[in-house]
Amino acid sequence: MNNPLSDRINNLSTSQTLAMAALARELKAQGKDIISLSLGEPDFNTPDFIKDAAKKAIDENYSTYSPVDGYLELKEAICRKFKRDNNLEYKPENIVVSTGAKQSLFNIAQCMINPGDEVILPAPYWVSYYEIIKIAGGIPVEVPTSVESDFKITPEQLEKAITPKTKMIWYSSPCNPSGSVYNREELTALSKVILNQPNEIYVVSDEIYEHINFSGTFCSIASIPGMFERTITVNGVAKAFAMTGWRIGYIGAPEGIAKACTKMQGQVTSGANSIAQRATITAVDADPSVLNDMVAAFKGRRDLVVGLVKDIPGFKLNVPEGAFYVFPDISYYFGKTLRGKVILNADDFSMYLLSEANVATVTGDAFGNPNCIRFSYATSEALLTEAMKRIKEALV
Ligand SMILES: Cc1ncc(COP(=O)(O)O)c(C=O)c1O
Repeated sequence: MNNPLSDRINNLSTSQTLAMAALARELKAQGKDIISLSLGEPDFNTPDFIKDAAKKAIDENYSTYSPVDGYLELKEAICRKFKRDNNLEYKPENIVVSTGAKQSLFNIAQCMINPGDEVILPAPYWVSYYEIIKIAGGIPVEVPTSVESDFKITPEQLEKAITPKTKMIWYSSPCNPSGSVYNREELTALSKVILNQPNEIYVVSDEIYEHINFSGTFCSIASIPGMFERTITVNGVAKAFAMTGWRIGYIGAPEGIAKACTKMQGQVTSGANSIAQRATITAVDADPSVLNDMVAAFKGRRDLVVGLVKDIPGFKLNVPEGAFYVFPDISYYFGKTLRGKVILNADDFSMYLLSEANVATVTGDAFGNPNCIRFSYATSEALLTEAMKRIKEALV
């Protein structure tokens, strides 16, 4: 039989984070005692005041199609959030609400990238950027970083990566997977490079981990002079409010780009879930201090894991300042044989940890950094301690 599938889907990679999570689930179902550190979602419940707002929305019959770009009340609340947290003056016509930040990113790619356009990705980058850009016909241009530079790119590296075909730069800060946070000074230096180019280069600033940030500093690149018109600010409620399943993300963008994203979404999914949108009004209007307990718990786990990982021979680590991942460089083990298994790369190492330590991680290759693996610390301190103990034992 001929393959009925399109070249587009045949050329698409499966999300490796989801693939590892599925494999871990399968092994668990077979009775193996697997500790899964592979998935990126908070292990907290959605706060009660948000759940109450959703229940109220059901009772008030918010059951019909919503405007494609989101309820006006939600877009106004998002504008207040952008002003309060980021000093950004977006208006409702700059906002598009989508079914998760993932759809926001997909819309942007479809609306802004022509086949052959280059998109710069500081590596490591979030796993889906690469494929979303490829689906749009764009060419991802990876700019490598390492643990030594805290996984951040320099203005010189950016300048070198830019060509006449460069259309955009996509990055997340706090970064998934490295946890690195760019400060205002660093973003100002990168902006200078962008604004000095003869071609108009746009930036996708993915700020979904904004509130899970221990650095005491946060900067939206759109707030840097000259960058507002060049930036699409992406955010959502999944991570900060433990609402991954509710599927609400949003952008703040120049009006023409926002309109284009609305046009695209109108042909694909229409407006996002009506009940989740009403609940999100309450979430984004809440003072970020409601998240203090959760953020403190993540910081405690970060400190715990960093301490334990530092104790594992051959692991090199930056101290992540945000999100809920650690991203150690494990290249020390490449070329070594452990319990009869040859470790050639991060894939082999991650599979070794799964089979010998019963711990699920994600290979750095998925994020464009082949020397590292990613642990999520969005789980209990007891499980994290046990996981690090098992890993250490499997490596001696
Ligand atoms: C950096 C980054 N951006 C976007 C997303 C997607 O967010 P959402 O669940 O709102 O689609 C994730 C989820 O893992 C992420 O880590």
